[in-house]
Amino acid sequence: MNHTHHPRIVIWLSALALAFAGVLFAGGAAHAQPKDKKLDRLWKAKCSSCHGMDGKGDTEKGKKMAIEDMTSPEFQKKYTDEQMKKAILEGVKEVRDGVKKEMDPLKDELKPDQVDALVGYVRSLGAQK
Ligand code: HEC
Repeated sequence: MNHTHHPRIVIWLSALALAFAGVLFAGGAAHAQPKDKKLDRLWKAKCSSCHGMDGKGDTEKGKKMAIEDMTSPEFQKKYTDEQMKKAILEGVKEVRDGVKKEMDPLKDELKPDQVDALVGYVRSLGAQK
């Protein structure tokens, strides 16, 4: 065996092992909370255009429709989980205080567990303050 080459191979192998461990670790971390990431994506794709990423409704559509701030205790108290589910499934279409409020029904797009998860998401927005 050529001893002058040995350390290089060891370093190279260690680096490879580290990289491999890194991949395993990243994979493990992604597995630990796949739901939250998916939920974030779902919220971003389906809800944030009106309600905003933070749920405050600080968006163009949110302002136009005077969408309530989901992080406020008033909002959290106002709706039960059932009412939230109903809004998500069947949408909202009403005129309140002269403002037209519309949210698309999503019952054909979401699975029941996604709806539950979204209600949980809205609740977690309220718990942040
Ligand atoms: C097109 C805009 C729009 C989108 C997209 C949207 N919403 Fe809404 N949402 C509204 C409006 C308007 C209201 C009416 C209440 C208000 O004034 O805040 C509302 C109300 C709600 C309420 C309160 C319940 C109620 O009866 O008012 C919940 C909960 C809710 N939305 C969740 C969601 C979730 C979850 C998503 C994504 C799956 C979503 N919304 C996507 C516009 C939207």
